[in-house]
Amino acid sequence: MTQKLDALFQQDRAHFMHPSTHAYDHESGALPGKIVRNARGIRIEDHEGKQYIDAFAGLYCVNIGYGRTEVADAMYAQAKQLAYYHTYVGHASDAIIELSSRIIDWAPAGMKKVYYGMSGSDANETQVKIVWYYNNVLGRPNKKKIISRERGYHGSGIVTGSLTGLPSFHQHFDLPIDRVKHTICPHWYRKAPAGMSEAQFTAYCVEELEKLIAREGADTIAAFIAEPVMGTGGIIEAPAGYWPAIQAVLKKHDILLISDEVVCGFGRLGSKMGAQHYGIQPDLITVAKGLTSAYAPLSGVIVGEKVWDVIARGSQEHGPMGHGWTYSGHPVCAAAALANLDILERENIVDNAAQVGAYFGAKLREAFDTHPLVGEVRSVGMLGALEFMADKAARKPFDAALKIGPQVSAAALKRGVIARAMPHGDILGFAPPLVMTRAEADEIVGIVREAVDEVAERNLVAAG
Ligand SMILES: Cc1ncc(COP(=O)(O)O)c(C=O)c1O
Repeated sequence: MTQKLDALFQQDRAHFMHPSTHAYDHESGALPGKIVRNARGIRIEDHEGKQYIDAFAGLYCVNIGYGRTEVADAMYAQAKQLAYYHTYVGHASDAIIELSSRIIDWAPAGMKKVYYGMSGSDANETQVKIVWYYNNVLGRPNKKKIISRERGYHGSGIVTGSLTGLPSFHQHFDLPIDRVKHTICPHWYRKAPAGMSEAQFTAYCVEELEKLIAREGADTIAAFIAEPVMGTGGIIEAPAGYWPAIQAVLKKHDILLISDEVVCGFGRLGSKMGAQHYGIQPDLITVAKGLTSAYAPLSGVIVGEKVWDVIARGSQEHGPMGHGWTYSGHPVCAAAALANLDILERENIVDNAAQVGAYFGAKLREAFDTHPLVGEVRSVGMLGALEFMADKAARKPFDAALKIGPQVSAAALKRGVIARAMPHGDILGFAPPLVMTRAEADEIVGIVREAVDEVAERNLVAAG
């Protein structure tokens, strides 16, 4: 390592507080850092000039791939003309107006307006405030609880961290807050009682939701929030029939549905959004990541007609809604989003996600369905996962202390592929850029196969 690089890493350890990072190990140097310097297509390059295939598109967000100068040019042009003006009290830029209509065109029927933020977390924070405001305007002050799902991911703020159904986001933060309740994760493979078919498991999930609503009282529950496909919870598709059955329950009890499409929106599932993919008719939709392919931070709350009508009535009765961010509708981020949507549309990238995603899924199944370490292979669109089991037939997981998921992820990284060890269970997740080719999919599967073989040899042989 050169002196200059060494000094940079020392500065990193001294002054940069990283998110989701072991604080002590980073500061002490036990956790070696990585500086990312360049990226093109689906590959990134680190401080040593080593290249990696990024099979997780950053954090499932660089959907159009890295290094698209067209987006950079659009941001530059916007920053030169108008770098910033706020959007309070009816102000706008040309770019943000155009973007709002484009987003409504991508959304399912019945959507009306877009409110902007900078992250998925702040967008979901806005969702909860809108839902509470909605019920206050309607004169239902007790209808405020939000139901989310165990292992769902909705952010890491106070309310959004509460919505997130992962224990590590609650422990040591005194979360979740009282107004948030969790229902069962719809993962048939791990959650269905023994002998239960997929169809029976769908009915079981619906029953669990009904029981929770009955326990809390429907008149206290405002909304249900869910990802069309669970991302961070382990890349989990709900069982067949889940969405229509869940929506019928919500309708019956006058509970709003928030579709958190931070991961699934803008092509990730091989459809425009998750809502169209599963025939979901949400009242509100959250988008972020793929909206700009992470070239600039931008999120949105897409508000449906039913909720919008109440918001409009609310301002007639109470004045403007007391909710706003300085950077809401930032013009440079809007320019990035418009250029990103141009590329997605012009290059038929959603179709590529459907076709190459199906190919990638088939290749994962071919390589791992009968592998002794792999209990379940999952894929939908350009998302995939391998779940590792100590005893495949009995669906018995490994001792968590063995960290099988992180072992596989490290073995893949050593061979030049970034795939994510998901935080709950021994799961290796994939969410490559949507521009991935079949040849690149083959390369990833080949390398990951070697990594899984290495970890299997080390652990299954050790276990006898
Ligand atoms: C489904 C979902 N919702 C919300 C968020 C939070 O987004 P952010 O990290 O931008 O706050 C994420 C982040 O991964 C997510 O996957």
